[in-house]
Amino acid sequence: MKILMVCLGNICRSPLAEGILKHKVEHLNVEIDSAGTASYHVGEAPDVRSIRIGRAKGINISDLRGRQFAVSDFDRFDLIYVMDHSNLQNVLSLARDTRDRSKVKLLLNESSPGKDLPVPDPYQGGEEGFEKVFQMLDEATDALVKKIENGTYR
Ligand code: 4NP
Repeated sequence: MKILMVCLGNICRSPLAEGILKHKVEHLNVEIDSAGTASYHVGEAPDVRSIRIGRAKGINISDLRGRQFAVSDFDRFDLIYVMDHSNLQNVLSLARDTRDRSKVKLLLNESSPGKDLPVPDPYQGGEEGFEKVFQMLDEATDALVKKIENGTYR
């Protein structure tokens, strides 16, 4: 299975989601990557606040580099998880057909099914926002890993 995590800048939320999920699925045959809908931070390392919270939890994301989401990602990935409704709109606006659209999901619907909750953009805020983001990503990826392990993914 190939999974893509998507946010706006690909420096705060989605690299952390990528790192956390990679950490949890080392025993499974899953490929994980992340991307941003915007090009502002292409080639850049994750935000130091995301690197720091990851490191505090034993997850090193410092080697990841920002890249922009591309239409070809619909072909490369089975599942495309977005962090918020703006990411959802941006990614869906690039979808070519219903098959593309069916791959795109809000990540927190894994931990809070049907609630359509966002992982809020922590970029303008303080460190506590990154702690909250980590907790949300941790819960959602726990639920996702269970589904993958059980083969109950749909
Ligand atoms: P991310 O956070 O989408 O979680 O990576 C952001 C990073 C940068 C910007 C916005 C959000 N920005 O406007 O530069």
